[in-house]
Amino acid sequence: MKKNPLSQRKDDHLDIVLAAGNNPLGADPGWSSVRFEHCALPEMALDDVDLSTELFGCALGAPLLISSMTGGAERARFINHHLAEAAQALGIAMGVGSQRVSLRSGQDQGLTGELRHLAPDVPLLANLGAAQLREADGLDLARRAVDTLQANALIIHLNPLQEAVQPEGDRDWRGVLQRIETLTRQLPTPVIVKEVGAGISPRVARLLCDAGVAMVDVAGAGGTSWAAVEAERAGNAAEREVALAFADWGIPTAHCLLAVRRAVPEIGLIASGGVANGVDAAKAIRLGADLVGQAANVLSAAVVSTQAVVEHFEIVLRQLRIACFCTGSRNLAQLRRARLLPGNLTPP
Ligand SMILES: Cc1cc2nc3c(=O)[nH]c(=O)nc-3n(C[C@H](O)[C@H](O)[C@H](O)COP(=O)(O)O)c2cc1C
Repeated sequence: MKKNPLSQRKDDHLDIVLAAGNNPLGADPGWSSVRFEHCALPEMALDDVDLSTELFGCALGAPLLISSMTGGAERARFINHHLAEAAQALGIAMGVGSQRVSLRSGQDQGLTGELRHLAPDVPLLANLGAAQLREADGLDLARRAVDTLQANALIIHLNPLQEAVQPEGDRDWRGVLQRIETLTRQLPTPVIVKEVGAGISPRVARLLCDAGVAMVDVAGAGGTSWAAVEAERAGNAAEREVALAFADWGIPTAHCLLAVRRAVPEIGLIASGGVANGVDAAKAIRLGADLVGQAANVLSAAVVSTQAVVEHFEIVLRQLRIACFCTGSRNLAQLRRARLLPGNLTPP
């Protein structure tokens, strides 16, 4: 059977990101500009560290999010099932990849009520692109995306750079903010808005907050670079050259977090974009993140098994716990105030 072209594109994305391994394809996320002051006298036991938190009224065992990922029809199904089972086992949140193909084509891609069945107790976040909101039935699509998953919130992704360097991309981004504002007024669930690897600036975060958006995922530069991924898919030398010039484009994740937290203190903040381990996650929380997301770094485990995903995050959690211990932080509130060495990025 001939593959839907959108499904084929998603398959290409998975293959390219998997082939890149854990090496960031683009810029530096900026974590090296943040150094904790090591505490040689923590005066607590490592087991005292409490990483629990909550999201939209749901208890979480740790402030982690499996960031939205999607894939071509066949692979998306088992990837989503592995991720959902792992999220439930670990008590962490899960975002699904774009539901556009699934909702438009009827290929379910594992994006059904079954996911809620596999992960009954953790927040599940639905996902659509901003371009879909501009379509005539955008609001209806958004409602269906949430209902299909019984999701706790809807993520809208903003990816103008990716669309601009993609031969078949959406080029017209007029009126997106207005659509987001309408969505936040009409959807009963909270709306989260994210980038996909080029970052959210403080100015954009302010506009989104004023439009009623509950949380922003900065998805900054330093992790997956969609310009680099699209350069790999380019059909000719000119397309490749255009895309490659943007391989390290964007606002590094650490810089986004600091700037958005300062400019819009009231918005919920998610950090994704080049979070390699639990030490990066600790730094993201110190810079103001409420939740820390990983996508590309989980993918190689997600194609293997639920257990592989659980083992991946158990390492991240051990690292995060040790970072708390070695800054004398018993919980996330204390980690948010942990002392830093004077450096380039210094939150108040
Ligand atoms: C294979 C792949 C597919 C992705 N698909 C989506 C998507 O459908 N919707 C979305 O909002 N973000 C998508 N993302 C972006 C991630 O959710 C994340 O914000 C971004 O990749 C930065 O995190 P990372 O550096 O850990 O990969 C995707 C990322 C990857 C690696």
